[in-house]
Amino acid sequence: MSRVNHAVVGVASSAKPASDAVDATLSDTGVYISGSLRNRLVVTLIGGVAALTLLLYVVVRDYAAQIAQQSQDSILRASVSSMLDTAVIRNGIVELDIPHSAFSMLNTAKDDRVFYAIYQDDKLLSGYANLPRSSAQTTPPASTTAVLESALYQGVPIRQITASRLLVAGGKRASVSATVAQTQDALSDTLRAITLKAALYGAGFFSLAVLLSAWVTSSTIRPLRQLANSVARRGPQDLSPLSQPVPTEMVALVSAFNHLMARLEKSFSQSEEFIAEAAHRVRTPLSTVRSHAESTLQRVDKEENRQALRSMIRAIDESSRAATQLLDHAMITFRASQFEYHSIDMVEIVRDIVVRLTPIAQMKDVELRLEGQPKVITLGDPILIQNAVRNIVDNALKYAPSESLITITVRSDPKPTIQVCDQGAGFPENEIKNLTRRFARGSNAAGTIGSGLGLTIAKDVADAHTGTLNISNQTSGGACVIFSL
Ligand SMILES: Nc1ncnc2c1ncn2[C@@H]1O[C@H](COP(=O)(O)OP(=O)(O)OP(=O)(O)O)[C@@H](O)[C@H]1O
Ligand SMILES: [Mg+2]
Repeated sequence: MSRVNHAVVGVASSAKPASDAVDATLSDTGVYISGSLRNRLVVTLIGGVAALTLLLYVVVRDYAAQIAQQSQDSILRASVSSMLDTAVIRNGIVELDIPHSAFSMLNTAKDDRVFYAIYQDDKLLSGYANLPRSSAQTTPPASTTAVLESALYQGVPIRQITASRLLVAGGKRASVSATVAQTQDALSDTLRAITLKAALYGAGFFSLAVLLSAWVTSSTIRPLRQLANSVARRGPQDLSPLSQPVPTEMVALVSAFNHLMARLEKSFSQSEEFIAEAAHRVRTPLSTVRSHAESTLQRVDKEENRQALRSMIRAIDESSRAATQLLDHAMITFRASQFEYHSIDMVEIVRDIVVRLTPIAQMKDVELRLEGQPKVITLGDPILIQNAVRNIVDNALKYAPSESLITITVRSDPKPTIQVCDQGAGFPENEIKNLTRRFARGSNAAGTIGSGLGLTIAKDVADAHTGTLNISNQTSGGACVIFSL
């Protein structure tokens, strides 16, 4: 378990932001965070959509206003030209017979008021004298082009058209100009309705676009989240490459991750192999030295020398035990990273260990009692579990007093569990949480041969099976270790 954790800590501590300018916060997991992709996407998409909606609204409204204005203008143009068409010079006098249709064509649903003024040169012939005069009336009539203007008349906005016509008859020339103006109540109503509709369509378009952006954001983020979940769900020993399909943009990230995993796997297995090889090489000469020391001890009489030889044998035993445990630990670590689940009977594994350790137990006058169910079938790696349980029972034999009882209970309910309880002094209470660390030995272990790896092995095996190792003291006295899968 510790392997991958070391790797993660390493990455986190070196993952500082590239420059101080980067606005990053440190998360609980030790990773620097610079904003959220989801928020960035949502803000960009919704901001863009809002700007587009506003633009669309303004364009639609202006275009509609222009169309509405054009239709009023063309009626005004028809009205003024129907007036001017009737202008004639009769007997030297300018006459106009304003047709009824010139006004009736301007009828609107809102009964807009119509004003007109007809001038011969600068003289008002008919109509409203105070109607604002346009430039077309004040300048000499060079053409018959109509001039359209928006103005205020009697405090009300009006649209007016002015056109003029040059009459020539019997040697007389006269310039006649006509202005027709109309209030804009109906037009304002139309514009208000169009504006409201444009706003409603805009709001609908905006809501749809917001939904669409939410969907786009979540479907863009989904592969990232799935990848993060599948990495987070991995067992601590799992260094296998990621095999799930990912979008093209994530290929570089996943392949970098897979390369890293491959390098880690290689370097771990190399270091475990190295430890195993080193332990093996140390153990062999140690046993030779031990047998020499033992035989010398038989032959030496001087107490001083005998004492030195005994210390030497003990030191050799310590080193040999450490080498054995290191070898086991390396094997466990290697196997835990790539084991396959088999159907196993935990009771059979425990019974086998009890048989093997019974001679040692008998030497100490300790009884090993197997209790619980007759069969507990589960899935696991038999070699790993055997190693873990052997270390736990070995501890009970080492740290429990002679003439005591060690109870090993195997149960399947609520989960496959092996419980080993002894009648010794128990774990040193304030050291319990550290005892599963590598090379950690309790204060009660002084004088007992050991290397501090037994509980580490048991815990690593439990972790590899996604199980737990619980160590505690019984209220009635004695240590109790619960290994569950
Ligand atoms: N049954 C027990 N009763 C009391 N203390 C225990 C018991 N089992 C373990 N301990 C304490 O936990 C410590 C760690 O145990 P662990 O098995 O990891 O190491 P060890 O027994 O010292 O060495 P080895 O690697 O040879 O097993 C021991 O040193 C001891 O202090
Ligand atoms: Mg031990």
